[in-house]
Amino acid sequence: MDGFKYKAYKPKSKGGNRRNKNQLPINLEVNSNDKLTGALYHRRNVIKQSDWFKGVQHTFDSVISSDNWPTPAKIIALGLGSFEDNRNAVDQLVLLEYIIEKLQIAPNNVSLYDPVCTETDKDFVKQFGYDYIQDSDSIHTNNNCNTFLYMPHCDKVLYEATLSSYWSADKLSTVVLLGNDLSLYSNRQKDKGNVSLVSKFLTFSESNNLPNPPDDLINSFNELCFQYVPSLRARWLNEEYWNKQ
Ligand SMILES: C[S@@+](CC[C@H](N)C(=O)[O-])C[C@H]1O[C@@H](n2cnc3c(N)ncnc32)[C@H](O)[C@@H]1O
Repeated sequence: MDGFKYKAYKPKSKGGNRRNKNQLPINLEVNSNDKLTGALYHRRNVIKQSDWFKGVQHTFDSVISSDNWPTPAKIIALGLGSFEDNRNAVDQLVLLEYIIEKLQIAPNNVSLYDPVCTETDKDFVKQFGYDYIQDSDSIHTNNNCNTFLYMPHCDKVLYEATLSSYWSADKLSTVVLLGNDLSLYSNRQKDKGNVSLVSKFLTFSESNNLPNPPDDLINSFNELCFQYVPSLRARWLNEEYWNKQ
């Protein structure tokens, strides 16, 4: 994970502008929220001007026009990290903004959670109208609509736990995952238990990779992939498939 510090621009003094001793000092301190706003603004410009982003737009257009696409009505974003100290998280927030706009999701149907988020991080996302989830246990319950799971670079154990919440014939096809290409994770992060829902999921899911990012975006966006099980397939899977044991 990258350490990340936004440096506010301070104009150099040109002289001849000395302050009267009785004047209150100008507060040059920039608060944390302003720093994050500045960082987001900067990264948004960098990312949106990249050729990689054009490729992402193209991939989105082709994925959402597929017959199997389960149009999502809400977004759950997990494991982006702390915006205050992880530049990847800020970059991934830029992509989240694009996804929200592209899928025309109302901000109050966007929920985020990462246990490392600070109070500043939480206030920062809430100002866009997004919901910061306090109770992580209830994230996936009461979900009766198609859901876009945005989970860039999460650990396999979190993908397993998340898939487990949707592991039934009627629920699995209601979720689209944009996270790491699980076929690569599946080999790299070996299962501790006997059953891997990730491996089962891979057997029947559709997948579309995002384009390979250039060097300056690689830490934030490498190996990301859309993955979902189309409802027609989910309907024909047998009891054994839905067994988590
Ligand atoms: C490998 S880091 C990835 C961070 C960031 N997305 C990146 O690309 O640098 C995995 C993240 O998952 C978060 N995480 C762990 N358990 C979680 C949970 N139950 N729900 C949401 N996020 C979780 C961690 O706090 C961490 O920020």
